[in-house]
Amino acid sequence: MSTLPSEILLYDLSADTLDMRSDVLAGLARSPKRLPSKYLYDARGSQLFEHICELPEYYLTRAELALMETHVAQIAATLGPQVLLVEYGSGSGLKTELLLERLADAVAYVPVEISRSALTASVERLNGRFAHIEMLPVCADFTQPVRLPEPARPQRRSVIYFPGSTLGNFAPDAAVRLLTHMRREMGPHGAALIGVDLVKPPALIESAYNDAAGVTAEFTLNLLHRLNRELHGDFDPEKFEHRARYVGETERIETHIVSRADQRVTVAGQRFHFAAGEAMLVEISCKYSRTSFARLAARAGMRVSHVWTDADGLFSVQCLRPARQSTQTQ
Ligand code: AVJ
Repeated sequence: MSTLPSEILLYDLSADTLDMRSDVLAGLARSPKRLPSKYLYDARGSQLFEHICELPEYYLTRAELALMETHVAQIAATLGPQVLLVEYGSGSGLKTELLLERLADAVAYVPVEISRSALTASVERLNGRFAHIEMLPVCADFTQPVRLPEPARPQRRSVIYFPGSTLGNFAPDAAVRLLTHMRREMGPHGAALIGVDLVKPPALIESAYNDAAGVTAEFTLNLLHRLNRELHGDFDPEKFEHRARYVGETERIETHIVSRADQRVTVAGQRFHFAAGEAMLVEISCKYSRTSFARLAARAGMRVSHVWTDADGLFSVQCLRPARQSTQTQ
């Protein structure tokens, strides 16, 4: 249960936003089969993901953190004073701390996160560190339009922070929809700060999703354990394997769970057939060049105002603003 300090009110919008059973049944009925990647993050999945972030092959987290350490003062100066900082997903919090430390006179922090436990944990920690910043946690699925709470003190600008290359998990059309929601939520003077993984030699990208220690494989296959536990499934995880490949044409990693045998599985009361070698898509991780990301932002009515990268040019944080100020047509 929540152990938030009593002055912090948690806005719970999560009631009907997450319906794993119907999503899973719909995904397994498709051909080819697929499952939404958001279900990878149960308690065990989130723990495994934290472990992934420390793997030598997984350059993303280290590069983004190094980038923030180098450029946070300039990023904060670009955003200006009295920011209302909204974060989609409440992440590990380290990058957020750097930002909150540097933002001048930040008005409030609004993490939007589907996992109540992750939300509570991050707000508790940040509330201790930043007593003068109002904490307004929202328990919700950020892929749905979210009405942001109003801070006690008015903000000069709302900034939506979306680090970690999480936008890469959305195919371009879905990413454009999400960026469009953001643009509406942030208002004409708002900004979005997005962590974007950059295209680079495919071998480097592929090894980040196929680590030698097998943690990523465990992370992927943990989804089957979750379906067994939460939807009365009878997947034998030993009879499936993790496969992550870089697809050059679409500049993305595609992660599949591949069946090692011809088999039948029951989940949520329904039976499904898997052919030997049949691959079920569970995650995509899109990579962008500066040009392809600018094009994506433009489709959502935004323009890239600043780009920061780490010294090795592996990862970027990009500041987006509404492309046109007042005369927006929907
Ligand atoms: C946290 C979703 C951005 O796609 O790189 C890491 C998830 N999957 N290794 C990513 C992930 C496999 C990660 N994101």
